Amino acid sequence: MNDAKPDILISQVRRMLREASSVTVFTGAGISAESGVPTYRGADGALWDGLKLEDWATPEGYARNPQRVWKWYSDRRVQLGAIAPNSGHYALANLQRQVTARGGRFVLATQNIDGLHQKAGSDGVLELHGSLLKIRCSGCAHRRDVGYKAIDEIPPCPACGAMLRPAVVWFGEPLPEDVWTAAAEAAGDCEVFLAVGTSAVVYPAAGLIELAVGAAAKTIEVNLAPTPASTVVDITLHGKAGEILPQIVGDPGGS
Ligand code: OAD
Repeated sequence: MNDAKPDILISQVRRMLREASSVTVFTGAGISAESGVPTYRGADGALWDGLKLEDWATPEGYARNPQRVWKWYSDRRVQLGAIAPNSGHYALANLQRQVTARGGRFVLATQNIDGLHQKAGSDGVLELHGSLLKIRCSGCAHRRDVGYKAIDEIPPCPACGAMLRPAVVWFGEPLPEDVWTAAAEAAGDCEVFLAVGTSAVVYPAAGLIELAVGAAAKTIEVNLAPTPASTVVDITLHGKAGEILPQIVGDPGGS
């Protein structure tokens, strides 16, 4: 399926996107790599260096040392304030405008917690793994936006007094149900499905790709390197998301 020359594949995908009445996009850490956000895995994967995953990305790690984990997330949140979206994020925001302008349906589901899609202008982003820019209560339904603010100490929940926590999904935790349902529906019912910058190994999120394949969507992957998804999608475009996405989306205004 995938042995045509890169230029031919790019034009093919560009045409698919231009003609599709519904497009679902699924992104991972790779799309933010060119903005300077480290990925989790892959050649430049750096985020976990020197850190034990079970210490900062599990509910047990938070229970063991809440202050240290809280501060780690607070520092990352502050760093994000200085990080700008790249041409890949902007291309997807542009694609959303193109598809919706012609009355089509567009859904963007991301595993990223960095808010860069929204910063680039994407609307209604489904944040499968939560957001670094939000905090929530570990005991009740209280949650709030905190932007890029440093909050060094853990405040008590204003509603119930329990300990607040980052509003991200940790290993072993379920995805937010409404977000997952919307993403699964969009993957299982779209004409074109585009997976960008994800290693496609973390479930249930990676299962969106299989849902799209199972529903006979036209499936496209954009990644620097082969992934398990490469064997099931129709087309893989190898390269940087920040270079490939502007090419397949075209100019602002829908050319
Ligand atoms: P990973 O770090 O696992 O994978 C990043 C992918 O992006 C790799 O396949 C790289 O080859 C690719 N990549 C790197 N730079 C790229 C670029 N400039 N353009 C295109 N592709 C590029 O990130 P995710 O798949 O997002 O979950 O990881 C999934 C989940 O694992 C994360 O959401 C996080 C982590 O555990 C939780 O924390 C719950």
